[in-house]
Amino acid sequence: MTPRKIIIDTDPGQDDAVAILLALASPEDLDVLGITCVAGNVPLTLTARNARIICELADKPGVPVYAGCDRPLGRALVTAEHVHGKTGLDGPELPEPKMPLQDQHAVDFIVETLRREDAGTVTLCPLGPLTNIATAFQRAPDIVERVQEIVLMGGAYFEVGNITPAAEFNIYVDPEAADIVLKSGASIVVMPLDVTHKALVTAPRNAAFRALGTPVGIAVAQMTEFFERFDKEKYGSAGAPLHDPCVTAYLLAPELFSGRRVNVEVETHSELTMGMTVADWWGVTDRPANALFIGDLDADGFFALLTDRLGRL
Ligand code: RIB
Ligand code: CA
Repeated sequence: MTPRKIIIDTDPGQDDAVAILLALASPEDLDVLGITCVAGNVPLTLTARNARIICELADKPGVPVYAGCDRPLGRALVTAEHVHGKTGLDGPELPEPKMPLQDQHAVDFIVETLRREDAGTVTLCPLGPLTNIATAFQRAPDIVERVQEIVLMGGAYFEVGNITPAAEFNIYVDPEAADIVLKSGASIVVMPLDVTHKALVTAPRNAAFRALGTPVGIAVAQMTEFFERFDKEKYGSAGAPLHDPCVTAYLLAPELFSGRRVNVEVETHSELTMGMTVADWWGVTDRPANALFIGDLDADGFFALLTDRLGRL
C-alpha cells in the first residue's frame, strides 16, 4: 500500500515532538511531505527550531521544515511556556539544529503542495493553532476541496478548557482560524481533550519509552517527564497527556479511536467563552455535522503502537 501523504502543521511542544517522531518512524504508512511551523506553545522562531531538532533526533534531516504565521489572524499571540518550558522542548538536552529552514513560507508550501498533488491525496495534520491552515484557505479557496482530510488536535467538549475554563489551547490561541477551518467544508477529524486526556503517560508507559535505550526513547521519556507536571497539578493526572500523537496514531490505526460525527462550532465573540468548541454531541440542533469528534481510545493499544514505532528510530 502506498504511504499516505501528509503535511504536519505544528507548534512543538513536547507532545508535537512525539507526534512527529511517530510519523517519521512510520514511512511505510506515512509520507511526510513537509512540516509547517506555527506560533503557539512558543513563538515561531522556537517552533521552527524545535521541529528541526526533532527531525534530526529522528535522523531525518531531509524532511523539509517551513516557518509559517508568527501570530494569530486577529488576536495577540498567547503562548504556553508554563507547560512546555521556555524553549518549548524542555526536558532532554538536544543539540541546536544543523538542517536549514526552507526559504518558502509555510502557507505558500501548503497551497503549492495541495495544487500540485492529485486532489484528495494529501492529509493535513494540524497540531497547534490553525493560523497557517486558515491563511492558506483564505489565500487559495480552491485548495479546500483538494484536501483529503484534516485530522487535527484541538477543542474540547465534556472535558472543557485547559487554558481557560471554556477553551482548549490550540483553538483559544486563534479562534478565528478555527472557525474558518471548521466551516471550510473539508473532511475533518477532531482530536479534542475529551480523548487526549485519556492518553496519559503513566510511570510504566514512561519506563517503556526509557527502556528502548535509544536516544529517541530516552528523549521522549525526558520530554514527557517534563511536561507532565502541568496536568498532574491541574487535573491530578496519572501522567502527561499525549495530545498531538493521537493525530498520528489515528492515521496509523483508526480502529484505536471512537467518536461521533457531529456539528462542531467555535466561539469567536464572547471573551468569557472565546475559543470554546461547542459540539452538538446529543444532536439537539439541526446544525449539519461537519466533523468526526473523537471521544475515546484504546489507550493500551495506543501506547503499544507508539512505543513499538519509536523503537524503530
Ligand atoms: O491543548 C493541547 C494542545 O496545545 C497541544 O497541541 C499542545 O501541543 C498545545 O499546542
Ligand atoms: Ca501542539
